[in-house]
Amino acid sequence: MTFSLRTLRRATVLAMLLASAVPAAARDFRIAVGDGAGGTQEALGLAFVKALEEKSGGTHTAKLFLNGQLGDEQDTVTAAATGTLDFSILAINNITPFSPSVGTLTLPYVILSLEDAEKITQGEIGQQMVDRTVEDAGVRIIGWAYSGFRVLTNSKKPVTTVADLQDLVIRVPKNEIMIETYKSWGVNPTPMAWSETFAALQQKVVDGQDNPYMTVHAMKFDEVQKYVTNIRYIFSIEPLIVSEQLFQSLSAEEQAAVLAAGQEATLASGQFLRDQEAQIKADLQAKGMEISDPADGEAEFIALATTAVWPKFYDSIGGKDVLNGVLTALDRPTVE
Ligand code: MLT
Repeated sequence: MTFSLRTLRRATVLAMLLASAVPAAARDFRIAVGDGAGGTQEALGLAFVKALEEKSGGTHTAKLFLNGQLGDEQDTVTAAATGTLDFSILAINNITPFSPSVGTLTLPYVILSLEDAEKITQGEIGQQMVDRTVEDAGVRIIGWAYSGFRVLTNSKKPVTTVADLQDLVIRVPKNEIMIETYKSWGVNPTPMAWSETFAALQQKVVDGQDNPYMTVHAMKFDEVQKYVTNIRYIFSIEPLIVSEQLFQSLSAEEQAAVLAAGQEATLASGQFLRDQEAQIKADLQAKGMEISDPADGEAEFIALATTAVWPKFYDSIGGKDVLNGVLTALDRPTVE
């Protein structure tokens, strides 16, 4: 049987019309969230759900599962990669083990402000990291939450110097860069999953940990920690990831809606931190937390960490040039 070109064109147009007339099946996606209510992860998630509903014309929605209900943060990366989880919001340090290229964002003292974080994640370098993470880890970053500097908390005493840290047992994520940073300060930290951290602090298996004020508040760490030190070694960035398998199964329109919703949620996240952080910090003080600044403007912490840690990770982040690209984009001196 033969068809004329005109018949074929007509058939194609008809097929396209039929396809666009069939509404996409409504979806109710699941979003894993590592932290509790009230933090930047939840704020990003809620903004994303609202934007997704709007941009899909009310067809798609999603539900947040807070407090690690769908698994520990690192486990959610594997679950999303294998297609058993749709979305997850988690700290960047918990993606680094699966995609070392994003380690540049957890190198100590590289990102020095919210503006630095926004500039890098929302620019060309951020897009390169998104692409690498798809390749390395099978998940796609579609939005970024900004949570502020990871401050040090502990239950024993005020800490202002590197010497004060020496007799404390500090929990860190299972992240080599963070482990090496504490080692550069003379401490052998305890790597531990995020989902186990509150109980470990409560039962005094560990004395302290670091996370942003927003996270300390959302996780109610003030109930088990007394002292805070305003170190600024990592500005916490917390991506929203989607399973790449899921993303590729969506139509072009659905993908566009997901990406646009992620972008809108990212912008809302920066504003959320600007609006909330000072109040959250004051609230933690009102609840009895004592806040100290490091001595000498943090000079000793900075010198030890940057000298010892940066060179160890040039290879894993994709070369020294990757770090220099970030430093150049931030108008800072590069490394030799
Ligand atoms: C961690 O310490 O493992 C994470 O930063 C926790 C978080 O996602 O807030």
